[in-house]
Amino acid sequence: MRKSIYDMSVFKERRDRLAKLLNGAALVLPAHPEYVRNHDVHHSYRQDSNLFYLSGFEEPESVFVFRPGRSPETVLFVRDKNPLRETWDGFRYGPKLAQTEFGVDAAFIVDDFEKEAPALLRDVDVVYYSLFMNTDFDVRFRHVIETVKASWGRSGKGNLAIKDSVPLIGEMRVRKTPYEIEVMQKAADISAEAHIEVMKATRPGVSERALHGLFIKEIMERGAAREGYGTIVAGGNNATTLHYVFNDQPLKDGEIMLIDAGAEYHYYSGDITRSYPVSGKFNGAQKRVYQKVLDVQKRMVAMVKPGVTLKQLQETARNELIDVMIDEKLLKGSKDQIVEEKSYLAFYPHGVSHWLGMDVHDAGAYEVNGESRQLEPGFCITVEPGLYVPAHLDNVPEELKGIGIRIEDNIVVTEDGHGNLTDRAPKEVDELEAIIGQG
Ligand code: GLY
Ligand code: MN
Ligand code: MN
Repeated sequence: MRKSIYDMSVFKERRDRLAKLLNGAALVLPAHPEYVRNHDVHHSYRQDSNLFYLSGFEEPESVFVFRPGRSPETVLFVRDKNPLRETWDGFRYGPKLAQTEFGVDAAFIVDDFEKEAPALLRDVDVVYYSLFMNTDFDVRFRHVIETVKASWGRSGKGNLAIKDSVPLIGEMRVRKTPYEIEVMQKAADISAEAHIEVMKATRPGVSERALHGLFIKEIMERGAAREGYGTIVAGGNNATTLHYVFNDQPLKDGEIMLIDAGAEYHYYSGDITRSYPVSGKFNGAQKRVYQKVLDVQKRMVAMVKPGVTLKQLQETARNELIDVMIDEKLLKGSKDQIVEEKSYLAFYPHGVSHWLGMDVHDAGAYEVNGESRQLEPGFCITVEPGLYVPAHLDNVPEELKGIGIRIEDNIVVTEDGHGNLTDRAPKEVDELEAIIGQG
């Protein structure tokens, strides 16, 4: 049998906390579908974050049902044992082992979902379920809702009320526990170490793809299961495409390259960006602009503490980057006018922060009562200002054309300020120049 590497008490503790928020309601969480890559090859499977967060179960086609205060309280629907499929694809728990190994009160084969689920939902008034995430499963869930309604007879109650589970679980996930911060520190350390190995291997003529491959090798050697998102390795003007996906060009002498890459460790993602010269030495203009963006980034990180909002961070980043744009003759006019006309978006078109956790753009509301949310201890965010000068733009200094710089760290909010999870990834000019190409 294949043993889960995860401590089941972590998932139990999360369910205990969620039980209070559910307030008598039930929860139904299906897995994401598997997707065909081509013909009979599938994309590698990664469990839905919420389903893993609450159950630790990693197989596709599973469903978790939670009914706090009722018996059974926790139910998993899973694929049945199948010797032929297991010969080809590997071990499956099946219901019996799923129940004992994952510490749930009951488990059924997922083919019996329509048969077994109505009895689990008949005595609740509200079920939390996220529609349209798995539309094939939505159809099966509809049958269950209809069966539940039929079982109520002429009650006048209508359908079992469905509420979206995403904000409910997001509210838990946005506050990281000490255990989660420990895992995120590990994801950040693995990511930072892999970034250093990529820096060492960077030199003119090496391809973006080779460095992408090296990043994957380095994180996997350190225990990461996969990347947290599609790695961006972008040389020169490619770095001005925010989520450049091609990663297939050779890196050239004289260019700045941007790498945005993070390891996923135990389902938590790092998210680091570094920008540095392919040759190992910044030229004058590159060094000047890089240092200005770095100074902005360090001031943004220094601002992070409880009570600060992401809107404040964003507005400060925008204002400080506009100063850089004016200083560098990318824009003319007053700051007010530039903000009003949004002309800064030509050079800085993204946000400075997002929640970080199991999903790189993690769960959790960004606004509370219509206002940008104040940071609290345990929140994890990125801080990632950038400046991009696409080569095709007219009226910009020649020496800045084709430069894309983003500097991104992972920051945890603490009681009295913050901690930088990714401070092992070098970002000072002299540190970078000492490492690049030295491998
Ligand atoms: N890697 C995606 C982001 O930085 O938001
Ligand atoms: Mn990010
Ligand atoms: Mn990133």
